[in-house]
Parts: sequence; C-alpha cells; structure tokens
Amino acid sequence: MTDIVPEVEGLVFGGDYNPEQWPRSVWDEDVALMREAGVNMVSVNIFAWARINPGPGRWHFDELDAIMDLLAENGIKADLATSTAAPPPWFSQRHPETLPVDPEGRRLNYGARAEYCPHAPAFQEAVVAIASKLGERYASHPALAMWHIGNEYYRSCYCDLAAAAFRTWLQERHGDLDALNDAWGTTFWSQTFTDWEQVLPPRISAETPNPGHLLDFKRFSSDALLRLFRSEAEAIERHAPGVPITTNLMVTGDFAAMDYHRWGEHMNGDHRLIATDHYILPEGPIEAEAQVAFGADASRGLARGGPWLLMEQAANSSAWRGGYFAKRPGEQLRHSLSYVAHGSEGVMYFQWRASRYGAERWHSAMLPHGGPETKTFREVKTLGGWLRKLAEVKGSVVRPQAAILLDFESVWASSNPGEPSAYMPAYPELRRWHAALWRRGITCDLANPAWDLSRYPVVFAPALYLLDDDANLRRYVEGGGTLVVGPYSGIVDRNDHVHPGPPGALRELLGVRVEEFVPLREGETIALDDGTEGHAWSEIARVDAAASGETAEVVASFIGYPSTGAVFHRRLGEGDVWYLATRPTDLDPFLDRLDLVPEVPGLPTGVETVRRAHEDGRTYLFALNHTDKPVTIPTEGTDLLTGADWNPRTHLHGNSAAVIRER
Ligand code: GAL
Repeated sequence: MTDIVPEVEGLVFGGDYNPEQWPRSVWDEDVALMREAGVNMVSVNIFAWARINPGPGRWHFDELDAIMDLLAENGIKADLATSTAAPPPWFSQRHPETLPVDPEGRRLNYGARAEYCPHAPAFQEAVVAIASKLGERYASHPALAMWHIGNEYYRSCYCDLAAAAFRTWLQERHGDLDALNDAWGTTFWSQTFTDWEQVLPPRISAETPNPGHLLDFKRFSSDALLRLFRSEAEAIERHAPGVPITTNLMVTGDFAAMDYHRWGEHMNGDHRLIATDHYILPEGPIEAEAQVAFGADASRGLARGGPWLLMEQAANSSAWRGGYFAKRPGEQLRHSLSYVAHGSEGVMYFQWRASRYGAERWHSAMLPHGGPETKTFREVKTLGGWLRKLAEVKGSVVRPQAAILLDFESVWASSNPGEPSAYMPAYPELRRWHAALWRRGITCDLANPAWDLSRYPVVFAPALYLLDDDANLRRYVEGGGTLVVGPYSGIVDRNDHVHPGPPGALRELLGVRVEEFVPLREGETIALDDGTEGHAWSEIARVDAAASGETAEVVASFIGYPSTGAVFHRRLGEGDVWYLATRPTDLDPFLDRLDLVPEVPGLPTGVETVRRAHEDGRTYLFALNHTDKPVTIPTEGTDLLTGADWNPRTHLHGNSAAVIRER
C-alpha cells in the first residue's frame, strides 16, 4: 500500500498550528510541548493570507519562514496550507465582486472567513498566485511533508459571475438549449428558455423552484470548487512535484456540500491523498463512538478502501455547537484510536493551542487555555505515545464486511422541495443503518453505487433515490452478492425525472411493483405481520410476477394493506436481493435475517473491533471497549499499547483499548 505521508515516519500526529496568533516567545514553548507530546506534523498557514500577502503585490514570508525553520529544527513536519480559504479585507475591498452572493441576492460582507465567489476571476487568479509563490518558496524546505489546499471547501455563490460560469457548465453538460429545457422539464410552469442569457443560478423565486435546476446547480458548484482546488494543486506541482497534496473534506457531516466521490477521483492516487475533518454531535441521536466510525468509514470509502488521514477533530468541545459539550475522560483517546482502527494514517486536530481571541476562542485544542497540566493535554501526550508504538500499522488497510451505498446526487435530489415526505432524509438514514451494523460489529465502507461492489458480501442501499439504471447492482447480485434496498430508491433519473412505474430503475431487479406511496405522518408507525413496525413511509407494493418470473416473494406484509408486501426477497443468479417498503423502526429484526459475520463474533454492543492488515499478512486487531465492563477478546498476540502478551483470556477493561499484533 502506498505511503500517503512518506515524510513522516509512522503515524501522523498533530493539528492546525496558528503561531501567527501568538508572540514569538510562545512559539518555543509550543514546539517544546509538541515534542513532549510526540507531535510529528502540524498544519500551518491555514488562515494566514493577510500575513503572507498583506496588500496587492506585497509578499512577506519572514514569519512563515521562521515557523517552517522552527519546525524543521525541531524535527516536526509541516502540512503547509495555501491560506486561500480566508481572503483578507484588503482583497475583498479591492475586488468587491469576489464577495459571495446568497440565493436572495445579498452580497455577504467580509468579517468572518470563506467570503469568496469561486467564479470570480480575481479570486481564481489570486489563489493560483499564492499557491505558486508558496510552491516556489517552500518546495524544498526540510519541514515540508505535504500541501494543504484551501480549507473545507463548501462555498457556493449566486452572483452574475456565477450565472455566466453556470451557463458554460450547462452547455458542456447538456449541449444546446433544447437539451437543457428537456433535462429541466421546463414545459412545466412555462419555464422554457429561449436564450442562454435567461438561465440563472437558482436565486430565490416566488414558489417551489425547478428541482432539475437545483440539482444541476449543486453539481456545478461542487465542480467549480474542485476546479479551484485543482488549479492551486497544479500550480504547486509545477514547483514541488511529488509532494503529497490534500485538502480537508467534510464527508463526515450531513452537510453533503459537494460530490465527494467526484472529488475523490482527483484526490486519490499519485501524490494526492484523502483527508477529512470530523466533528461529532455529542447530543446524538447516534452514540458518539458510532458517529466516529461513520466518519471514518465514509473517509475510507472515499479513499477507495485504502488509507486516508483524519485532518481535524476536536480534543474536547467544538465552539460552533453553541454550548460546551465536554468529552469525558478517556473518550477522545478511544475516538482517536477508532479513526486509526478504521484506516486513518494518523490523528490530527483543530487546533494545537486554544486561541485567546476570535470566533473560535472557546473551541477546544490539544493545548487548552489551562495549559499542559490539564486532562486534555495529558491525554494528548498519552495518544502521542500510543501512536508512536503503532508506527508499524502505517500502510495496512481495513477489509470491511459490508458496504452502504452513498450517492451525493441522491442525497441532494431527495432533499429538493416538493418531495412526497418531509421525513425521509437520506443521509441520516444511512447513518442509522451504519450505526445498527456498527453495534453488531460489522465494519462497512460507504461506497458509491457505480463502483465495483464484488468485494462486499452484503451491500445496503437504504436511500438511493436517484439511479439511472440497475446495471451495476444487477451485476453485483447475479455475481453472488446480497443487496438490501430501502424504500423510495430507484425513483428518479439523473435529471430528477420520475421513472415510470416505481420503484423505477430497480423494479426489474427487485421484482416488485409499487402501486402507490403511503407516506406516514411525523411520529406515526405502521405494523407488519412479522411483529415489527415501520415509520416515515409505507407503500402499496406487490410482487411483479412479470418482471421477476415469479422469483420474488413476500416475506412480511403491512397489517391493514391486504394482499400486498412490506418486505420482499428474491433469489437472483448467485445472489439475493431484499426490498423494504418501509423504514423499519428497529433494524435488528431485519438484520437478523441476513448472514452477517462480524470481525470478531460474540462481543457485546459497545465493544468495537476492527482489523487492519498488511499485504504481507501481518494483522492488527483494534479492540475498543466503549462500555464500563471488562471483556475478553478472542485472539492471540501482543498488545502494542502495553507491550504485554494477549490471549483469549486477557481482560480488556471498561473504557479502554488494545491494539493487538496478532500471531
Ligand atoms: C473546521 C475548520 C477549522 C475550525 C474547526 C472548528 O470545520 O476547518 O478551521 O473552524 O472546524 O470545529
């Protein structure tokens, strides 16, 4: 497996480091404490545009030079950022057209960050100029380990420049205006365009907007940011070929700002790497540890099963939560190890030292306001020590037992206005299935429905609204896979046009015909004759004898919908396909029907095990006990965290962890 951060020996450990917020005297303490904690890489220059380029044509690198030199002298590597996510006031004032416009036509002011229009030429040119300057200056700096472009791309803009760029993008996608009119179904409500100049971003309108328009704008906005990312990456590569390049994605939230799978095509492979940020929601509804696993599994999915890097997490509370949610003692240690268990090549945080001022002065950090004598810093040191001991894990990969299909276009399209139910969000449903599987000890990749799925014994498609055709899923099932499809899947094509005869693109494959949707009200449930119940959604659904050649069968029915089905099963080729015409309130009774084999069978819920393996056969079993009670883990080897032997009678204490190099 490729070493995704070859300049760093072993696993990466560190965080965002913003020394420009501190007097020089503090820097020495910073690096001394970093060394004490085992920090080996920090992300610098993330938001320092105003420092390195304080005015038009003015470049000041003394401070960044000093930071980079200090890191090099102390053996700490730099993930050097381009600083382009936060244009300074001078830039916005000089180029007001680079300030973003919201759907209501309001131009946002500077005063926070990410105030840019991705389509404004002045901004596009400025970021490439900055990236080139940095590439030229630091390409061979001894501290440099990797490049970090921008920060958490998500901004979309609705200004006139965006409108022009949108038209160009639409011309490339659709060709002529007739094709655009077809794709967006503009005969509905007399929306037909007769001139490209009439086409605008989906700005606020009088009534429900055109869903095809909304969907294409999402795609366009994601592509525009990807172009921006690539323009900076290419500028750097011209000066510093061969150094890894990344940006911190946000695949881990419900945010779905971009089509991360499309991004992944440009962030995997040669000298690019997938890095993601993850901030859990301590108030649930899913337990924190399962959220961690979801974030990690989604990241590994983007990395196509290979290694990836956790670029940011919180050591304790996140300021933007609007309240303090402290992590309990030991909690962030287990979370951090869990990311590594699920394939991260290290653990990074936002940020190294808590800021004294600014919007995030109450965001936690590796080094809190309380200084080194704090629970958080002690845990940071413990983690640094552990990660050093886990160096040999670097480069090993996880082999998941299942996949959950995640398609960003589906997520976007199913949240367009005018949907038949307001209680069928896609992303939270994927999380719910993921959590139910995680509780059973099943590790899942989050995979795109168009990828080769043959390596997964079971594939879940809980919410796959948008699908052009069933070809890839059919190949998977016929080849021996088990596919589980949730309701309201296969319903529309890529233009958000309804496929005739629901469940549309999946009707033939499932052998099921949905006569009508019967969405449920908020809080309403529906009983099935196998003793289970569903919520949010139900259907009048039947076996489609013609399509399935009588091979589909009803496994359970809704009570009260005579001679219809709620759970269907069909044997097809070498495989099986299941269809659920509702969202089961409790997923376990259904999961019990499947042949799901956990990494380590027989463990109680809350005891997480994930195995990482090297190509040469060396394996590491990460065992994380998130419960209060001791358990035994049936394997043999050495616990790398303690150096002690491990055997099937060894106790893993409550709220603790072991990483067992297996014999
Ligand atoms: C991330 C961001 C960081 C910091 C952090 C706080 O989304 O990249 O700069 O704001 O959130 O949670």
